[in-house]
Amino acid sequence: MDRIRIVGGKPLTGAIPISGAKNATLPLMIAALLTEDTLVLDNVPHLADVGLLERILGNHGVDVMIAGKRPGENGANGRTLHISAKNIVDTTAPYELVSKMRASFWVVAPLVARMGEAKVSMPGGCAIGTRPVDLLIMALEKLGAEIEIEGGYVVARAKNGLRGGEIEFPKVTVGGTHTALMAAALARGTTVIENAAREPEIGDVADCLNKMGAKISGAGTARIVVEGVARLNGARHSVLPDRIETGTYAMAVAMTGGDVLLQNARPELLQGALDALAQTGVTVTPTNEGIRIARNGAGLMPVDVTTEPFPGFPTDLQAQLMALMTRAKGTSRITETIFENRFMHVQELVRLGARIQLDGQTATIEGVERLNGAPVMATDLRASVSLVIAGLAAEGETVVNRVYHLDRGFERVEEKLARCGAEIERISD
Ligand code: EPZ
Repeated sequence: MDRIRIVGGKPLTGAIPISGAKNATLPLMIAALLTEDTLVLDNVPHLADVGLLERILGNHGVDVMIAGKRPGENGANGRTLHISAKNIVDTTAPYELVSKMRASFWVVAPLVARMGEAKVSMPGGCAIGTRPVDLLIMALEKLGAEIEIEGGYVVARAKNGLRGGEIEFPKVTVGGTHTALMAAALARGTTVIENAAREPEIGDVADCLNKMGAKISGAGTARIVVEGVARLNGARHSVLPDRIETGTYAMAVAMTGGDVLLQNARPELLQGALDALAQTGVTVTPTNEGIRIARNGAGLMPVDVTTEPFPGFPTDLQAQLMALMTRAKGTSRITETIFENRFMHVQELVRLGARIQLDGQTATIEGVERLNGAPVMATDLRASVSLVIAGLAAEGETVVNRVYHLDRGFERVEEKLARCGAEIERISD
């Protein structure tokens, strides 16, 4: 398995292009199941999770062409996918595939909406917490689907189609909101989604669905209204920039010092995180081309942050901020409220010399003068990249093992950082 080797201590300068968002690409690809016509997606990042979803969709009979090539062939950055779900040959999503990527469970919504039935494996727990699907099931039931759990599978049936309904989420859920939107788009009548997730990726999917002929209003607010339509058509849509990748590189620059333009980044997608960064003393400047992040000699101030649904500070940047705070001048506190077990990076950061104490859902980080390189490993994507950030500032050599996790969600991470002056390389065995 590949590893990433980093020798810390180099400031970052130059420009980093921000890719299309993983967490918009995945539901957008799944939305292609709603129509017989071709959905064309531009600005698709080249990530392992995208490749895996191509395979999962392929199992349902979906044909995915990448910029005129077949899946698996190499493509350039920001690829174009032509996705055609003309013939859905199988409405079952098996355990072997769904267990590899949780978001693939979301196929349940378009399959039951268009085909009247779906049998999708429960995704099960994962490294960051239990992550149930009860609210996704509740949303489908409110739209008239009959749900049974059989042998670890969720079987959803709506022989006469779904009908509009009122869905009120007791807790903000991104996956629940995607599910409700896709199902409601093809339901008969009006659906109202209350306490909907407001994450920008929800707005991006709603925009795409509207281009496909759906009638969705209010996406981006807590109340979304969907007028169901009988059929959806093809469309062309460009994936919005990845706010988590943006925030991650912003924190890398904050960590090493330097001056980097994050090209194509959009500040309104991560204002909560940029505000926290500004409090650390880093200069954040929105420009016509993206966001410029700069830090000169001055040290980092500590900040206290609690993760929250959008527009709050995102859980997907919690590990990266923690890496940054290991070098702050003072003590910071980070509280995780979205996932109960998202602290796997803590013990690895401690191996690099960080001082972190965990008490329930709150980590207290006492900034240290220096980190020391070491071999490290993490079992999820954002935790892995937090170790890269720490390695960029650590003295000596850090080797991040199990790069597979990084490749799931960060496109060419070592290349993007090396171009800005980091000493970082991929080692393939
Ligand atoms: C999405 O996951 C993202 N994944 C996650 O990114 C992200 O961390 C998360 O939203 C929160 O922002 C994708 O977009 C592919 P949720 P999702 O439903 O939809 C609870 C990454 O690193 N809940 O908003 O699965 C749940 O346990 C990933 O890119 C229920 O209780 O998250 C959690 O506590 C990791 N019942 C909270 O809601 C349910 O039925 C929010 O989860 C569903 C969720």
